Amino acid sequence: MTGATSPGDRLSITDSRTGTVYELPIQDGTIRAADLRQIKTGAGDFGLMTYDPAFQNTASCRSQITFVDGDNGVLRYRGYPIEELAAKRSFLEVCYLLLQGELPTADQEAQWVDEITHHTFIHEGIRKFIDGFHHDAHPMGMLVSVVGALSTFYPEAKDIHNPETRHKQIVRLIAKMPTIAAFLYRHAAGLYYAYPDNDLRYTGNFLNMMWKGTELKYKPDPVLERALDVLLVIHADHEQNCSTSTMRLVGSSQADPYSSMAAACAALYGPLHGGANEQVLRMLTAIGQVSNVPDYIRRVKAGEFRLMGFGHRVYKNVDPRSRLIQKVAEEVFEVTGPSPLLDIAREIERIALEDEYFIGHRLYPNVDFYSGIIYLAMGIPVEMFPVLFAIGRTPGWLAQWEEGLSDSEQKIGRPRQVYTGPEPRHLPD
Ligand code: ACO
Repeated sequence: MTGATSPGDRLSITDSRTGTVYELPIQDGTIRAADLRQIKTGAGDFGLMTYDPAFQNTASCRSQITFVDGDNGVLRYRGYPIEELAAKRSFLEVCYLLLQGELPTADQEAQWVDEITHHTFIHEGIRKFIDGFHHDAHPMGMLVSVVGALSTFYPEAKDIHNPETRHKQIVRLIAKMPTIAAFLYRHAAGLYYAYPDNDLRYTGNFLNMMWKGTELKYKPDPVLERALDVLLVIHADHEQNCSTSTMRLVGSSQADPYSSMAAACAALYGPLHGGANEQVLRMLTAIGQVSNVPDYIRRVKAGEFRLMGFGHRVYKNVDPRSRLIQKVAEEVFEVTGPSPLLDIAREIERIALEDEYFIGHRLYPNVDFYSGIIYLAMGIPVEMFPVLFAIGRTPGWLAQWEEGLSDSEQKIGRPRQVYTGPEPRHLPD
């Protein structure tokens, strides 16, 4: 979020090295880093730069897609509050909203759903590619490779300046991600691949590809189908996070969308990002029982490890997605039965929210804290959690990628550095 500014607002900077005063325009609560380059000590000086490791205070783009106000726990896609979208709209409608800027009309939605539904199958070559992985390969490692490999199946995707070509790849990626995800699961489980059922909705079809057994037609549980839809909506975009920034950065080199999205998937794999819900589950399992929670919290406070699923770079008050997820969890457990891990999670939350360390550090449950428990209750194995996150985040990545490509201010991304290595030196004669 940026502070309110009016046209004509200026920042006055006095350089103590030279005594020179500079007036820099302030726009949308920012100054342009390039404006600092005029601040020099002399002709040979490169000019002032900002130093911002981990981009904690640098806006890298202007975006119309997602608004996050971390202090007030606000998340909006194209202006609509996440709570309203999660309650009233499907994941595919939200995909359309993120990509097109508006919710679809009934006709547009029918056409969009039809388009997605008819691109759910994957090339048999991709199936064979998946077959080549070792049985215990991590699904995210496989996902990174398979998404990247799609670029070799659709070489026309390189034509990134053609809107129709872009649209085709966007449809393919949204449509095929659940199929790829389910195939990765089935491969690891040693099960036959269940092909898409085009009679089912997006999430129902995913459940079909995951769980279909010997029955002729798989019938998804409507509560689980809807719960999954809400989870995907909640994960659909989150502005310039690690994986989205990766997508934009790789995309800025004009790589095709499959290569860019493979890089985004790789960024999401990390335990501090999309891998966190997997880590939450491992943590809850390691804690084992509710009575062990206080000792675990003590060790977190002693700095032995972090409480996974707590804390967020942006939300320092409440993560609005975690509130929605709690509601979904209750609905899911009505169908699947209660989870003992949920009791441990609730105890952690209860203790942490009253504890000075967590209050002082402004650490609250994030979106990953409950999502893992829900996925586990649905029967989805822990290693697959970040893959589900990736399915949800696909429209966000693609919307941000397209926005970056059409932004005339953008060029190939290339941060600067402060060199701290050796002074010039020479090899001995
Ligand atoms: N448990 C305990 N202490 C924590 C935690 C945590 N989960 N998170 C942050 N802290 C502490 C740090 O030790 C640090 O303390 P100090 O100032 O006394 O040294 C302080 O809070 C600030 O921590 P930073 O790492 O600087 O905060 P940052 O904003 O960079 O980190 C992050 C955000 C990565 C999410 C962090 O809170 C974390 O590691 N959480 C656990 C992993 C997690 O749940 N990730 C999912 C994020 S949501 C998502 O990606 C969808």
